[in-house]
Amino acid sequence: MYNVTLIPGDGIGPEVANATRAVVDATGIQINWEEVNAGEAVYEKVGTLVPDEVYASIEKNKIALKGPITTPIGKGFRSINVMLRKKYDLYSNVRPSRNFKGIDTAFNNVNMTIFRENTEGLYIGEEKVIDDNVTEATKRITREGSLRICKEAFEYAKKHGKKTVAVAHKANILKITDGLFLECAREIAKDYPEIKVKEVIIDNMCMQMVSNPSQFEVVVTMNLYGDILSDLAAGLVGGLGIVPGANIGKDIAIFEAVHGSAPDIAGKNLANPTALILSAVMMLNHLGETSKAKIIEKAVEETLAEGKFRTKDLGGNATTKEYTDALIAKIKAKI
Ligand code: NAI
Repeated sequence: MYNVTLIPGDGIGPEVANATRAVVDATGIQINWEEVNAGEAVYEKVGTLVPDEVYASIEKNKIALKGPITTPIGKGFRSINVMLRKKYDLYSNVRPSRNFKGIDTAFNNVNMTIFRENTEGLYIGEEKVIDDNVTEATKRITREGSLRICKEAFEYAKKHGKKTVAVAHKANILKITDGLFLECAREIAKDYPEIKVKEVIIDNMCMQMVSNPSQFEVVVTMNLYGDILSDLAAGLVGGLGIVPGANIGKDIAIFEAVHGSAPDIAGKNLANPTALILSAVMMLNHLGETSKAKIIEKAVEETLAEGKFRTKDLGGNATTKEYTDALIAKIKAKI
């Protein structure tokens, strides 16, 4: 029996979280879902964005599955997501993007995993107004922060038999900050002589990703670049509805989709739950439940390939519930 904190979140969050829970439960795995919530909806009810019980549950269970949270404007936090990543030192943001059979895109062999440093860079929240016309933001890059995310990326490449790691940077201009990141990547790379390192300047990286994305297997980069590149990668394979993610630290891991709360389609039974379902697959792999993870992944692959049940963002007509039920039927047939 696993204890997992479930944070449904805002907007489409509850819809995709319920779907994901039902899909995971269909495998027969014993998970005690401890449901707590954070975000705008909670704020309206209890006047706080993150009630203490959310922290208590994450700290007790160490594993959480989280729906998207609307970034509150002017309510204390810059972003709850950024705050949680910092608070629990979830330094490794892992975002795999790959093609699925049946989802037509301009490319058909994209399979890249982006490792985004998740706790420093330009997201440390140190901005200031110098005067009415001048503002500044601080970008902090540390040796420790850079070494550990690069190590995660190279370890992943080694474990999964990947031949290359691309390091995306702008060290030609940001010689000190990006320069340190690049220096750390080179240092880590020395321990993995079998893996080829591609050093790619971030602007060229964007061009390469939209012209020849299949050349990239593992990408490691700083916080802001990683955030942008992973949305770009999602666009290459069919959109935010199918791209999962994990935020991993030493003790705690929070699994969540790349997408946000999608207020434009919230509450309409239209959301694609695949991204959060595949985030749960990453969670099951993290827990060592690889065979259950595989069953869910196969059910998603087959359902998308057959095309009978696909949500609107993927060009289909299925509701969230119809698609989820189709996945559950497939999973039940496999166990
Ligand atoms: P978004 O990702 O919520 O939506 C962008 C577009 O993609 C919308 O048209 C939406 O309908 C569509 N989309 C997203 N996920 C989908 C899904 N699962 N199925 C079908 N269509 C989907 O980005 P947006 O509008 O910029 O952000 C909305 C709110 O979410 C903001 O407050 C933002 O700060 C927050 N956000 C939260 C994140 C998190 O909690 N991890 C991540 C990104 C944004």
